[in-house]
Amino acid sequence: MRVSIRPLAMQDLPYLYEICLKTGKAGEDASALFKDPYMLGQFYAAPYAFYPDSICFIAATDEQPQGYIVCAPDTEAFGKWLEKSWLPLLRERYPVPYPVEKAVSLIESRMALAFHKQHPAPEQPWQALYPAHLHIDLLKTIQGKGWGRLLMETLWAALVERKVPGLHLGVSKANTGALAFYKKMGFSVLEEDARVLTLGKDLRALK
Ligand SMILES: CC(C)(COP(=O)(O)OP(=O)(O)OC[C@H]1O[C@@H](n2cnc3c(N)ncnc32)[C@H](O)[C@@H]1OP(=O)(O)O)[C@@H](O)C(=O)NCCC(=O)NCCS
Repeated sequence: MRVSIRPLAMQDLPYLYEICLKTGKAGEDASALFKDPYMLGQFYAAPYAFYPDSICFIAATDEQPQGYIVCAPDTEAFGKWLEKSWLPLLRERYPVPYPVEKAVSLIESRMALAFHKQHPAPEQPWQALYPAHLHIDLLKTIQGKGWGRLLMETLWAALVERKVPGLHLGVSKANTGALAFYKKMGFSVLEEDARVLTLGKDLRALK
């Protein structure tokens, strides 16, 4: 199987939604949890394709996208853009409370809340050192073959070039595969709550 890594193109947009859904249940397929197959991607993947300052790469086999890494180098600036340019329409599409007949799971109803949180979120004590954030998702077809590492290292190189000191991400404690991956990639715990760990990677030592 020939896999290639390249910058995201607009033509990849449908695949962002698809891959986000197929990996959205702590790394497993979330399709059965969503009546609206676009809902997860509207928050976790697609905005990065439109945000002017994002850094995004695609892993593709025979030009068919199978995975992505999407990143906002400055989470605060991204939050301001979300608030102004991305979320207003989605807040109307996904009202809170979310109508019962529109959802097939509690998770789908709860997801509507994400569109109503205010951005940027209050600044965290670690944020100046880890200003970027990312999402990475690969379909099962290319998992476990080193492509996640390559996507991550490709992103790091782009961030180092921009002199971004570090990046963070959120991961469900139930996603044991991703936790093992992030540990291997040198991420450490910045904070945690009952369900989610926030991990950080210091990029300053990378050249
Ligand atoms: C998590 C994910 C990005 C990892 O990418 P990947 O291509 O499968 O991982 P790689 O093959 O590049 O592995 C890199 C290292 O992490 C380790 N690793 C990756 N997945 C692992 C797992 N499930 N269990 C243990 N170790 C794992 C590998 O052993 C490898 O170590 P090495 O470099 O020392 O040999 C990918 O599996 C994925 O997208 N999963 C589903 C979606 C998901 O959970 N996304 C994260 C949401 S927060």
